[in-house]
Amino acid sequence: MILDPRPENIYYAIETLKNGELIGLPTETVYGLAGDATNPSAITKIFARKNRPNFNPLISHVTSLEMAMEYGVFNENAIKLSKAFWPGPFTIIVPRSENCEVSDLACAGLETIALRMPKHEIAQEIISKFGKPIAAPSANLSGSISPTSSEDVFQELGDLTIINGGKCEIGLESTVVLVLNEVTLLRHGSVSIEQIETILGEKVWVADKDDESPKSPGMLLRHYSPKAKLYLNQASKQNDEILIGFGEMDCDFNLSTTSNLNEAATNLYSFMRKADALTPNAINIAPIPCTGIGIAINDRLMRAAN
Ligand code: TXA
Ligand code: MG
Repeated sequence: MILDPRPENIYYAIETLKNGELIGLPTETVYGLAGDATNPSAITKIFARKNRPNFNPLISHVTSLEMAMEYGVFNENAIKLSKAFWPGPFTIIVPRSENCEVSDLACAGLETIALRMPKHEIAQEIISKFGKPIAAPSANLSGSISPTSSEDVFQELGDLTIINGGKCEIGLESTVVLVLNEVTLLRHGSVSIEQIETILGEKVWVADKDDESPKSPGMLLRHYSPKAKLYLNQASKQNDEILIGFGEMDCDFNLSTTSNLNEAATNLYSFMRKADALTPNAINIAPIPCTGIGIAINDRLMRAAN
């Protein structure tokens, strides 16, 4: 059931979390399937509900750096990055603190923990009133397209307490960095590598690209995929196929008629979902420039087409 964010519904959502049950949580990136990060039974439910392999760790969501530091060990770089990009679409992976109360299952048994402070007001309200970190992967079945509206969550997961926070402003999952002695970008997002390097004043490694760098378990999997076959860099439309366009062109869905990459990111997943619902033979996507958030868009598209 989709609930508007009235006080009594927020209260109900928090009670649901306290009971070890799950909710659909709006954030500025994508909707999350949220549960108490410290409760192994809630975490087990998250993995089961998404059909997610249990080696793929979850992000724990917090409302302050102080709160994050209870669960992870923040070195100077991690502190700099959190101060620059929190609250926002930015996830920091650091070693787990000695008495970290987040369930081992949420971290998939790793020595590290992923932490994010979302900017969405409803997410912040729910986490702060709940008082503990909230584990929340994207609220889609594993491998499928992340939801950017409460209706999308309902379509993916069916019956669930979903708090409606409107359409996600960013529309792509957070940038993920691993911060140890070196900093490695594990997932592209709206915070760019240039922005990160500017804050740190040092080079950032990129998983996938720099051979020896660590990789995020989740990025090894086929991901973000519609049911129809996806073809990238297509300029025109075939008869019984769908074309998702960018910029001025003849197409079925246009990510941004004005070639605005932020608008394209916001629309991408919902248009892929809409196109897929028409059960076409194929979904074609126009070329998207590989600059700014376009890098994250192309990264997702390449995995979806894989
Ligand atoms: O924007 C987002 O990050 C959304 C919203 C709901 O916050 N969440 C999200 O979660 O995208 P998920 O589970 O779909 O993606 C988390 C990614 C996965 O690729 C996972 O493998 C990686 O983060 N990850 C989590 N903990 C990790 C760790 N300790 N080491 C390496 N990678 C980790
Ligand atoms: Mg996901």
